[in-house]
Amino acid sequence: MTAFDMSTFNISAEDKKRLDDLYAMFHERGKRHMGYPGNLLYDYRDLYRFLAFTINNVGDPFVDGQYDIHTHPFEREVIEFFADLFHAPKESYWGYITNGGTEGNVYGLYLAREALPESVVYFSDNAHYGLLKAARFMQFPMSVIPSQPNGEMDYEELEEALRRDSRPPIIVATVGTTMRGAIDQIEKIVAALQRQNITKFYIHCDAALLGMVLPFLDDAPIFDFRLPISSLSVSGHKMIGSPIPCGVVIARLENVERIQKHIELIGAPDTTLSGSRNGHTVLFLWYAMRRYGHAGFKAMIESCLDVTRYALRRFAEISWEAHAGDFSVIILIKRPSEKIVKKWQLAIEGENAHVVIMPNVTKEAIDALIADVSAEA
Ligand SMILES: Cc1ncc(COP(=O)(O)O)c(C=O)c1O
Repeated sequence: MTAFDMSTFNISAEDKKRLDDLYAMFHERGKRHMGYPGNLLYDYRDLYRFLAFTINNVGDPFVDGQYDIHTHPFEREVIEFFADLFHAPKESYWGYITNGGTEGNVYGLYLAREALPESVVYFSDNAHYGLLKAARFMQFPMSVIPSQPNGEMDYEELEEALRRDSRPPIIVATVGTTMRGAIDQIEKIVAALQRQNITKFYIHCDAALLGMVLPFLDDAPIFDFRLPISSLSVSGHKMIGSPIPCGVVIARLENVERIQKHIELIGAPDTTLSGSRNGHTVLFLWYAMRRYGHAGFKAMIESCLDVTRYALRRFAEISWEAHAGDFSVIILIKRPSEKIVKKWQLAIEGENAHVVIMPNVTKEAIDALIADVSAEA
């Protein structure tokens, strides 16, 4: 028996009822979850037993330190999967499982800043709001580049901004903007850099959602390490699905070596942004990766695109404005009433709303949404 007997304490019947109600509410809400990119279709029952452990992946995933309840070997396999998927250079990449796409973006900017201390960070006005925040707290000089009407960065504006400032640029390319699913074409960014004879630069790719979509589609634009990017961040809970938010960041090793510092306390190098790190999310990602593999993910993405095309057809039938990019699962629609926005948990921006087609969004659910919208059309 331990010194502290926890069995003499319990939560009240009232508290238990609150938890039951919350559970029932989540079940209901999950059926109409269409505005945010989170795949709710997963079954991680095999992993529930691991909630009995405090799994902490503190430190570098490639070095097993003093803290012994960790999932580093599984984390390394997940990182390897993503490094392959993103064509990271063999033997000279590094990565870790983050708490989400935002942490990966902050990490990318951190590596960039250490590589190019006197630099300016550029991203488009359609980039994720977390970038503005990250640039602010790092006190980064920044330049927000206007977008084209489709949400993609305006490359002429970027080139003009690069021409005006002689400091080395750090450019964040968004591969799948949050609202429109637009893709900043890294090849066009690189061409602008070349025309301006800029050889010292750092490109970070924010591929939060489409990083898990484009690699599985023929003829999709290239956005990965085949181009001169230095780091890439993708969310784990979005297309893959995870009950706990998470993400993956992959970077060229030389940039990580620049920041690493050995910490005696944990017996490992400090290379990550967080100290204590989630070891459970590693298991979720690993499980999905082993279950689906490349072929399974490809089938998953194709099914989402099939439902996306179906939804576009249904919106056209009721003459409700709706649009999606060629490789995207985000459908931008004319904003419906507040009642519909709330019922279907749609994300809104001014006159627009969007529907995100994740693997759990069925054609039947689209039909139900269309029935609601057409009643207002
Ligand atoms: C383009 C983009 N970047 C970053 C993020 C942030 O990702 P996370 O919510 O995983 O931190 C999002 C989230 O929607 C996003 O759409």
